[in-house]
Amino acid sequence: MTDVLQSGLETADIKPNIGSVIRADKQALLSGEHAGEIRNLLEARGVLVFPRINFTDEEQLRFTETLGTVVRERTGEDVFTVSLDPEKSTGVEYLKGSLYWHFDGTMQPVPILSSILCAKVLSATGGNTEFASTYAAYDALSDEKKAELEGLSAMHSAWSSLFYYDPEPDQAKLEMFMDVGDIELPLVWTHKSGRKSLVLGCTARNIVGMDNKQGTRLLNGLREWATSEPFRYVHEWSVGDMVMWDNTGTLHRATPYPLDSGRELHRTKLEGEEPIRA
Ligand code: OGA
Ligand code: MN
Repeated sequence: MTDVLQSGLETADIKPNIGSVIRADKQALLSGEHAGEIRNLLEARGVLVFPRINFTDEEQLRFTETLGTVVRERTGEDVFTVSLDPEKSTGVEYLKGSLYWHFDGTMQPVPILSSILCAKVLSATGGNTEFASTYAAYDALSDEKKAELEGLSAMHSAWSSLFYYDPEPDQAKLEMFMDVGDIELPLVWTHKSGRKSLVLGCTARNIVGMDNKQGTRLLNGLREWATSEPFRYVHEWSVGDMVMWDNTGTLHRATPYPLDSGRELHRTKLEGEEPIRA
């Protein structure tokens, strides 16, 4: 069902638990007049899709600035090229982890609020982006399961996800990934708003203080649950689409695509506003 908000912004839910399509005039989006509504929808719906909005890099950056504080990439760029082709992107080694469920900036004390992707070139096969609501997944847990998770935390690191795609890395590469550090994060994030979400992903290695096999079983089971059909949205891209997600309550991953497919998405990011707290 399409809703027309007071300001004229048109939105429609994609699935009950996750995702809204937004149709708005490009100039209106750039003016910032809808910024408050977009921020509210982002938190409420997890993923916002702006079909074929066809922003240039400059427009994408301007739109991002209307919503909060833009964060630069490690490489210093405001608009970063997401591609697995080393000729196109400087971050290929880390981007290989984007094929597994994760949220962005896990290792930062305050994870980013949102990432925004604009599609420039698509792969002929694969290369969808999947999203899963960790708010909805938490809410739908039984009371027994919620009680079981209370007080638990997991160790997260970039080197844990490295083993997903490079199971026998050379030592220098392992050291490089280990240098990124390790962080202990609660399994359940209690947000300032009072809402709770699960903190999961391919960076999660073990549950602190729990036997390894038991911890792996728990983490894997929660990942399977959180990314299951009721909580998941798969975006099949068209060139020109822009998609943004609430990185504090949404996991995401790319579905596999050939490294040399030319697939290219441009990314901007919004600075985080709250640390992960139990
Ligand atoms: C990212 C990411 C997914 C994709 O840019 O953070 O995970 O589909 N991208 O490329
Ligand atoms: Mn990502």
